[in-house]
Amino acid sequence: MTIEFFIAFHLLLQLSTVFGAGSGGTIGAGEQAPVFLEPVNNVTVVIGRDISLTCAVDHLGPNKVAWIHLDRHMIVAIHQHLVTRIPRYSATHDAHRNTWTLNLRGAQPEDAGRYLCQVNSNPMITQVGIVDVVVPPVIVDAGSSASHITVREGLSLTLTCRGDGVPAPKVTWRREDGRPIFIGDKKKEASSEGDSLTLNKIGRTESGAYLCIASNGVPPSVSKRIWVDVEFPPMVWVPAQIVGLPLGGSVTFDCFTEAQPKAITYWARTTGGPSDSDVVLLPSRRIHADSTSSGYRTHMNLTIQSFDVKDIGTYRCVAKNSLGEAEGSVQLMETEPEHSNNEMIVDVELEDVQSPPTTPQKTTLIPRSTVRPSTSTWQQGNRVQFISNNSHSTSRQSTIRSSGLSLLPRWSNVMILLAVTKLLLL
Ligand SMILES: *[C@@H]1O[C@H](CO)[C@@H](O)[C@H](O)[C@H]1NC(C)=O
Ligand SMILES: *[C@@H]1O[C@H](CO)[C@@H](O)[C@H](O)[C@H]1NC(C)=O
Ligand SMILES: *[C@@H]1O[C@H](CO)[C@@H](O)[C@H](O)[C@H]1NC(C)=O
Repeated sequence: MTIEFFIAFHLLLQLSTVFGAGSGGTIGAGEQAPVFLEPVNNVTVVIGRDISLTCAVDHLGPNKVAWIHLDRHMIVAIHQHLVTRIPRYSATHDAHRNTWTLNLRGAQPEDAGRYLCQVNSNPMITQVGIVDVVVPPVIVDAGSSASHITVREGLSLTLTCRGDGVPAPKVTWRREDGRPIFIGDKKKEASSEGDSLTLNKIGRTESGAYLCIASNGVPPSVSKRIWVDVEFPPMVWVPAQIVGLPLGGSVTFDCFTEAQPKAITYWARTTGGPSDSDVVLLPSRRIHADSTSSGYRTHMNLTIQSFDVKDIGTYRCVAKNSLGEAEGSVQLMETEPEHSNNEMIVDVELEDVQSPPTTPQKTTLIPRSTVRPSTSTWQQGNRVQFISNNSHSTSRQSTIRSSGLSLLPRWSNVMILLAVTKLLLL
């Protein structure tokens, strides 16, 4: 208060100089002292908008009403006369309502603060109105993370968004797809608050778009989208590593890969011949490859139709990116209705068909002992399947001849099945 009065007094001295007169005269007998009819309004204004402060004074007499911006130590206006050179201001008077109004067009941050409505009576009377200039939030690019970030899997990543605005905005983080954010000791959170977000030992599932949202109660809130690519060398997972198929049949092998950056993927073939040549598989009338990708995952498959003796061999799906290379293999062999010491158990799904049998659509053998990468996130099925639609039988277990695998001999049923299958193929 002392400071305010000091400033006000100081400014009044300047006023005297401007107007060549001191404060209004002392109040004589019978004269009524000036009084404020109501407090000056407080205003919160969004930057660039217009406002007015109104001071209502009764019994003003010969005194003058001045508007003083305390925070800038500046006399803005006296009566309707503008003292400051800032053209955003104007002063108006409504004689009927006894009001003195200070108008501000296009409010700026520096216009915020305390405005004193002062009557230079003796004693002087004053009252204060407060102007708040608020600024909607922005995200300042300098000091914020780039909109696309790549990071190696297992490292830590800190994302930053610097919000600016009046009042200072609060920054919150969330993933665009709504999945939880793993913060600190991998605690799951739907969102996180603070200018920065640290992702410790980032994993591939944490790839994707992150949004930082700055808000300070002044609409609109703003957000920035930061795309995070978590990079890692390719991984390959082949669900069925050994596939038995009768001659003439058709089969589709599946191969799943994960890689970031996106890997180049292809199928290669190792023939069992003496040259043991290794060739990139080219599509043909009977053999075609297909693949679909979603994010860092790719599903590849290879279909072989009219299985021929020359197709027997090892098929490899290869994935390469700048960080490394991985491959999985599928051994394709002919199934024979013969007993051997090397047999494996397979679950057989057979469906009754009333119509005349057709060639088998899918014949896949998955050894029980299949070893899978421990970090694989794919479903780790233990199932062994032999699917055929061309038999009159219902589900049963069967065995199929294989080599180099520890298997359980339980082949009595399948012998019949394979015999039937083979027969139908002829
Ligand atoms: C304006 O704000 C000040 C400080 O918060 C307060 O003391 C005063 O009563 C307010 N005036 C009005 C008219 O609400
Ligand atoms: C092979 O993969 C493609 C793409 O993923 C898919 O559309 C197609 O159905 C698959 N074919 C077979 C026979 O599974
Ligand atoms: C067997 O045939 C039925 C109908 O003909 C079909 O819906 C089903 O998907 C087929 N099963 C397999 C494993 O091919």
